Amino acid sequence: MTEHRSPDQIVPAEGKLGVLLVGLGAVSTTFIAGVEAARRGLNQPIGSLTQMNTIRLGKRTDERTPLIKDFVPLADLDDLVFGAWDPIPDNAYQSAKVCGVLRAEDIDPLEEFMSTIDPMPAVFDPHYVKKLDGPNVKTAGTKRDLADQLRQDIRSFKESNGCDRLVMVWAASTEIFMSPQPVHATLESFEQAMENNDEAIAPSMLYAWAAIQEGVPFANGAPNLTCDIPALLSLASEKGVAIGGKDFKTGQTLMKTILAPGLKARMLGLSGWFSTNILGNRDGEVLDDPESFKTKEESKLGALEYILQPEMYPDLYGDMYHKVRINYYPPRGDNKEGWDNIDIFGWMGYGMQIKIDFLCRDSILAAPIVLDLALFLDLSARAGLSGVQEWLSFYFKAPQTAPDLYPEHDIFIQHWKLKNTLRWIAGEEQITHLGVEYYD
Ligand SMILES: NC(=O)c1ccc[n+]([C@@H]2O[C@H](COP(=O)([O-])OP(=O)(O)OC[C@H]3O[C@@H](n4cnc5c(N)ncnc54)[C@H](O)[C@@H]3O)[C@@H](O)[C@H]2O)c1
Repeated sequence: MTEHRSPDQIVPAEGKLGVLLVGLGAVSTTFIAGVEAARRGLNQPIGSLTQMNTIRLGKRTDERTPLIKDFVPLADLDDLVFGAWDPIPDNAYQSAKVCGVLRAEDIDPLEEFMSTIDPMPAVFDPHYVKKLDGPNVKTAGTKRDLADQLRQDIRSFKESNGCDRLVMVWAASTEIFMSPQPVHATLESFEQAMENNDEAIAPSMLYAWAAIQEGVPFANGAPNLTCDIPALLSLASEKGVAIGGKDFKTGQTLMKTILAPGLKARMLGLSGWFSTNILGNRDGEVLDDPESFKTKEESKLGALEYILQPEMYPDLYGDMYHKVRINYYPPRGDNKEGWDNIDIFGWMGYGMQIKIDFLCRDSILAAPIVLDLALFLDLSARAGLSGVQEWLSFYFKAPQTAPDLYPEHDIFIQHWKLKNTLRWIAGEEQITHLGVEYYD
């Protein structure tokens, strides 16, 4: 990621960009509906940096603050086309109705458009997602054959939709917890394991492998291991493909990475952070399985430890107790409730408590992330960037990094990194916020 094309060599965002979504559930259908509503002028794409955020260039006195989308060449919303895979055969309209994120008055006007998006048969195995099953699945003798079918889907989709470029986003269910295995070490051992139907090869890895082989940037919106293994990292750099993950940063972790940097900046201590959630959507049902929950738990627990650095500040954070619970509670549907009880301490060790009750809409927070990841990964590809795109950590709960590099979780540092990367891509000066020049 240290090499990139000079600004005048960035390939323009001309033609159609196909967004291939793995999973056509709550997040994907909310994303598609929101893009279509924005295209029709029915809504603003709220929450999307690519559509709504500005970027400051040069000095504060220069008054150069274009919109990001006017500063770097991004695909236009009108040029997006959508494809998906899902074991459940419902089209995007039917699925959106079942998921229940959007009200009928918002989704019904889009029925004709959304009904045209039918999921392609999925590579799905209930061993990796326990609480789900569906008939719209591929069959083949080996995992290698299944992945080759995905490659064929990618090519057919590109051709039949007249796409110039593609990106793929995993917005499918959370798979069971897996740690890196010896077969994940090299591309050779990985591909051999695909032939051998090795259990260490999860469906999400087959999608990632197929995408990278086809030169399609890939983002992982769930906490699964997926492309965070040496075999797929080396394939991505060999093929020059941009990748990123893991797990969209929404809800409680978003709040955690907003609040914790503030407490640390003021050198306030933390003795405990207890987080609990109730949610009743399909994601919640899948996460009711302890093996899928473990994958999510690992992803959610990391942020605080990295932000607070207890090893560096043992007096403030050395004894902190951090717990995360997710409870499946059907009546709540997609409208999750997340409670946080935060025990902090200050001067002379006096304790204080902060309570957060976040009546959150998960998919409403996730949809703009899908849009931004799709557009920024497409920009990465046209700017000649490949491998892990750490500048997109802003969007992830458990940011993927180069091996041996700790992830940056502080949302403000992530935001700064994202904007400085855009300046770097476009050949503009970095902003350091030093500011002494204003006082000369
Ligand atoms: N909603 C959020 O805010 C949020 C935040 C962070 C991460 N995520 C993650 O994003 C993912 C999607 O969330 P959601 O709320 O849309 O869930 P969902 O259950 O509504 O949708 C997931 C869809 O993926 C499908 N699926 C499962 N395995 C598949 C496979 N192998 N191939 C193709 N499709 C498959 C399911 O049938 C389902 O329709 C989950 O992993 C979730 O943990 C969601």
